[in-house]
Amino acid sequence: MLFYILLVLCLILLCCFLFVNKNRDYWKKRNVVQVNGTLWKFLFSGRSLSEIYKEIYEEHNESHIGFFLGANPALIIKDLEDIQAVLAGEFHSFYNRGIIQRNPSDILADNILFIDEFQKWKIIRNKFSPVFTSLRLKTMYVVIEKCAKDFVELIANDTTMNDKPFNALYTYTAASIGASVFGIETVTGKNLMESPFLDMAWKCMTPSLKLNLKFCIGNVSPKLFKWLDLKLFGEHEDFFLNAVKSVLKRRRNAEKQSDFIDLCLELQKQGTMIDPVSGYRLEPSDEIIAAQAFFFFLAGIDTTANAMHFTLLELASNPNVLSKLHDEIDAVFRNNKQELSYDDLDKMQYLDMVINEAMRKYPPIGAIQRKCTKGTVLSSKNVKVEKDTIIVIPIYALHRDESLYPDPELFDPQRFDPNEMKVQKYSFLGFGEGNRICLGARFARLQMKAGLAWLLRRFTLVEQHYKKDRFEPSAFSIRDADAKYEFIPRNV
Ligand code: HEM
Repeated sequence: MLFYILLVLCLILLCCFLFVNKNRDYWKKRNVVQVNGTLWKFLFSGRSLSEIYKEIYEEHNESHIGFFLGANPALIIKDLEDIQAVLAGEFHSFYNRGIIQRNPSDILADNILFIDEFQKWKIIRNKFSPVFTSLRLKTMYVVIEKCAKDFVELIANDTTMNDKPFNALYTYTAASIGASVFGIETVTGKNLMESPFLDMAWKCMTPSLKLNLKFCIGNVSPKLFKWLDLKLFGEHEDFFLNAVKSVLKRRRNAEKQSDFIDLCLELQKQGTMIDPVSGYRLEPSDEIIAAQAFFFFLAGIDTTANAMHFTLLELASNPNVLSKLHDEIDAVFRNNKQELSYDDLDKMQYLDMVINEAMRKYPPIGAIQRKCTKGTVLSSKNVKVEKDTIIVIPIYALHRDESLYPDPELFDPQRFDPNEMKVQKYSFLGFGEGNRICLGARFARLQMKAGLAWLLRRFTLVEQHYKKDRFEPSAFSIRDADAKYEFIPRNV
């Protein structure tokens, strides 16, 4: 019996080995430098995939480096012209990400904006983009500002927040996305940090081996992923579907609020969504809406908390920058002003520069990818890209490339001064670029600026020296949730 079990195990291992090695010399045969073992390194070195891409990027002078994601040929690209082509110019060849594998019974994953199915993505993107227009953002700002104030009280009253400040930021971003997306009223006296969405956010957003494995299986073999009927976010379906159904019901006859739920109600009233070019049709069902709400959590909570966290870590390490930022914030609160309007925040240019520089050094999403749908040639070095090749844009590596950002380890917000903009187009990819650029970028900025402005109005930071080049083993993020800084109340 033992013999047969061993035989079956050996056969499975042999099949895996042959499967992974079937394209062994793929890049060498095409005269492109080739690196092996990337996915294994990621699974077993305890580092984030973006750091491994950075290592490969720095070890090779070539502008294109071939490797494999499972059995799939993949190419790391460095040239900004090629990056522009992949993200925008040649969108018809690169509209897919090749990350989320199709499984129609996976209600959340199969309907979110990260999907690959072009027609479905296009109609969802078009119909849901108006959720972050200036008008709606201004409406949502009332909720965001209340969250920011409650967040600062949380820091002031709960000393345990100093032990793990990332958790406090995460509480803030989860509460404010939850309140903005689900339209929770800012009832006086209600503490928005006690959000019903917080627990759920922790459960579904914290990177886990289980989720990494599902992504790996999906990347190595989409067929196996489908055959095993894997659902990326199956355990969160009921929560989101029920939350969306109940808020839609509650708001159907209520006053208009110009927020996400309002947009969803309008879409449901208009009926079937139809693409005017292709005639593709999609019902704005509760399931489609639940998937978008879920994705705003998935895409927004951790990323925004990370960007704020790294901003604070760098501010604690750069007292001159912190002092200049305090001056900008204090100027807004002059004459005993007690609130911070949407327009005030809009004018806080130095805060924008500081956030950009933190997102440069520590891009919350450290790499993005596209899957080629139609063979093409990348023009910088005439590299031929065949259908199904994965193109990796190594954001973290690009953001630390000396030729794009001189003295890249230096935290220097002046790089992003709009009056002397030295940053080259397509070299700053904190929110991505092109047709699939982050939909929530304006919302995220508003949320970060409100939280940081209120926080730094009340607190300063104990000086320290933060230097980190090893992050958590995540497939996409640059993350260091255990890093600390200490808040000191200011005399304001
Ligand atoms: C600092 C915070 C954030 C960062 C750094 C960030 C970054 C990114 C990046 C790098 C992408 C991929 C772009 C690409 O592949 O070209 C993306 C996509 C996306 N993000 Fe964000 N994001 C943030 C916050 C948010 C928030 C708050 C929301 C929603 C409320 C959001 C919604 C989305 C959506 C829907 C997409 C997919 C767009 C598409 O495929 O059409 N993000 N984000």
